[in-house]
Amino acid sequence: MSCIIKTALEIKNMRKSGKIAAEVLEMISKYIKPNINTEDINTICHDYIVRKKQAIPACLGYHGFPKSICISINDVVCHGIPNTKQILKEGDIVNIDIAVIKNKYYGDASKMFFVGKVNLLSKNLCQVAQNSLYLSLKSIKPGIPLYKIGKIIEKYVNKHNFSVVEEYCGHGIGRNFHEEPHILHYYNKNNNILLEKGMIFTVEPMINAGKRHVRCMSDGWTVKTQDNSLSAQYEHTILVTEYGCDILTWQKGEIISPKLINKT
Ligand code: MF3
Ligand code: CO
Repeated sequence: MSCIIKTALEIKNMRKSGKIAAEVLEMISKYIKPNINTEDINTICHDYIVRKKQAIPACLGYHGFPKSICISINDVVCHGIPNTKQILKEGDIVNIDIAVIKNKYYGDASKMFFVGKVNLLSKNLCQVAQNSLYLSLKSIKPGIPLYKIGKIIEKYVNKHNFSVVEEYCGHGIGRNFHEEPHILHYYNKNNNILLEKGMIFTVEPMINAGKRHVRCMSDGWTVKTQDNSLSAQYEHTILVTEYGCDILTWQKGEIISPKLINKT
């Protein structure tokens, strides 16, 4: 059992595993184009994680998940399974979710990619999903109640007439993929533990263009929106610091700073 407050050594290791997850997302960007199949994207990421980073793809075999990464297209909310028959086409929006283990520590991150030109709704949805994550991260510092994260995300998303998926949440992360605490992406007053310096967890809101409801497909993994509306997700692993948080999975080109200070 590991503690929800990480030691300096654990933090050092978590920075490394977070950086690797980020680097996989940076590396794969140039391959996200019409006509590539999702199995090939999986293979490229797998080989990069294993050969180049000498790390382990954490999704592979996790509760029997058959591939190394999750790829979730359009109305797929999460946990899409890479497949040779699934081919990216112009206009698709695609979430790639990367979790790795390096020196026994986990890193977890995901982002949306556009395949060629995408329509305005798709762009808006992805922008709102990313902004909701960023807004919540900017609120993080020791002493704030955990529910504030979900409250900020829900308020912002609802203002834009999109919805927050409630079935999946962020999570503590360390030597285990999923640890305490659970990070809800909507407001729940019972979620009132106070954040402390040294906590490491993911924030990973899934945002639907239509209703929030989801259904799991017969493959046992692929989760889609019930109304077949589009869905978007961004995920970061973060460390609570003295005055804010560090984004351990920060990627080149992100508008937000990797070190957030929130002294107000
Ligand atoms: N990375 C995701 C998470 O945050 C998905 C893991 S499910 C898996 O939990 F089975 F695909 F690994
Ligand atoms: Co996660």
